[in-house]
Amino acid sequence: MLDFKVEEKIDFETEIKKLKKEINAVILAHYYQESEIQDIADFVGDSLELAKTAKKTSADVIVFAGVHFMAETAKILNPHKLVLLPDLDAGCSLADSCPAPLFKNFREHHPDHIAITYINCTAAVKALSDIICTSSNAESLIKQIPSGQPIIFAPDRNLGKYLIKKTGRDMLLWDGTCIVHETFSEKKIIELKLVHPTAKLIAHPECEDSLLSRADFIGSTSKLLRYVQEDNSTEFIVATESGIIHQMKKAAPEKLFIPAPPDKNCSCNDCPFMKLNTMEKLYLCMKNKQPEIKLDSEVIAKALKPIERMLAMS
Ligand code: 13P
Ligand code: SF4
Repeated sequence: MLDFKVEEKIDFETEIKKLKKEINAVILAHYYQESEIQDIADFVGDSLELAKTAKKTSADVIVFAGVHFMAETAKILNPHKLVLLPDLDAGCSLADSCPAPLFKNFREHHPDHIAITYINCTAAVKALSDIICTSSNAESLIKQIPSGQPIIFAPDRNLGKYLIKKTGRDMLLWDGTCIVHETFSEKKIIELKLVHPTAKLIAHPECEDSLLSRADFIGSTSKLLRYVQEDNSTEFIVATESGIIHQMKKAAPEKLFIPAPPDKNCSCNDCPFMKLNTMEKLYLCMKNKQPEIKLDSEVIAKALKPIERMLAMS
């Protein structure tokens, strides 16, 4: 019988560990998940590391504690495995900004361009792309494309602008943004710097151009995590989703990590999609073996090619 609500008091940690053995599952979690989920996961990483780990797992069931496009990528890489997502509504504003029919139309208007598409997009958009990239490998992938080849970069406008600066390639950009990374207030960050003059500002490349130009370091979630461990500074203002701070504190407990403040008085630096997953939903999805990611076999076959190209080039 399927259970969708937990009535009695349950020790989720113990029950999830039991279920993991029973169904031979691996739990993959993104850095933006709540800390309890990160702590129970078998692997925590950025989107590239998660895709690579999903590709090589021998588990029968992949439980993806992340957002929909990440679980879809795991399914594309493992079409015969059961891929579970604790909450199917865990979407992404970037993926939503780029509907497949509009992207198809855009591509048809620029037939001489190849499409390098950020992994934060639907499987249907991946199927229309030439190469998938993530924030940690995009620069290196673009540098491998012959210089005369025109490029479309979708769907993140901010990451696209940042890559144009880094690579010198004049790419055609899709106009999408991340609702979390465009929320930070530069004014409040400047005020914070007055109180913490030695703090370094570190930022994810999905942040707006003007914020990035003030940053001491820019990188994907994994690169930010590595930077705070290797850099000599003891204070950091972190301009990305606040979930990553859990790993930063674990890796460098003696250092201070200050979440970059959002514009409004809200917790908009928490990704509302990532935070839909909870320990209760994680437990229930493993117990019920659903909700499951299902994809059309033709979409899987087409979307696999640009993902494999990415993995081969990274
Ligand atoms: P990473 O590639 O750094 O994991 O970023 C994914 C993401 O969704 C950022 O908002
Ligand atoms: Fe998407 Fe932004 Fe959430 Fe990342 S933080 S999953 S880009 S909405």
